[in-house]
Amino acid sequence: VKQLPEGYNCRPIQRSDYHHGFLDVLRVLTTVGDVTEAQWNERYDWMSRRNDEYFLLCITDSSDAIVGTGALIVERKFIHQLGLVGHIEDIAVAKDQQGKKLGLRIIQALDFVAEKVGCYKTILDCSEANEGFYVKCGFKRAGLEMAHYY
Ligand code: ACO
Repeated sequence: VKQLPEGYNCRPIQRSDYHHGFLDVLRVLTTVGDVTEAQWNERYDWMSRRNDEYFLLCITDSSDAIVGTGALIVERKFIHQLGLVGHIEDIAVAKDQQGKKLGLRIIQALDFVAEKVGCYKTILDCSEANEGFYVKCGFKRAGLEMAHYY
């Protein structure tokens, strides 16, 4: 990604990221729980077998610590002539790294992938508090989220 601050990098998730703070960054977003390395590896391997569907990326700082992350999931449809829809999920920037445009760069990178793989649109759910951030990333309000928790 262009225009990251000096020393920062953007790259796909790696299996070894269990040890580089990936889950800690996600803790700024929501509950992660206690994920063992074996559980991480199993989920990572599952996702990497679907590497045309799950695109998870990391922003690292100059010490290679993960300071931001985000995911694009590509859904295959029958409608819209077998259309593909991108879903942006689990965007998180470490608390002490917010406000440096890292979140914006994550969204731009995921958007780039979505367009490149042929998605006709990318959608996401967010709180009212984050609406302004996504507007700055080029998104606009559309629809209404419904949820059924189990
Ligand atoms: N409301 C309005 N504007 C905002 C907000 C906000 N909540 N957050 C950032 N912005 C603005 C910035 O001021 C900046 O504007 P500018 O270009 O005029 O300077 C622009 O949006 C880009 O901001 P970034 O610096 O890229 O934002 P940051 O790196 O801090 O990341 C994020 C934003 C991801 C929301 C971060 O604050 C975060 O991790 N929050 C906690 C977790 C979270 O809520 N994640 C999103 C959940 S929704 C989902 O995952 C689909």
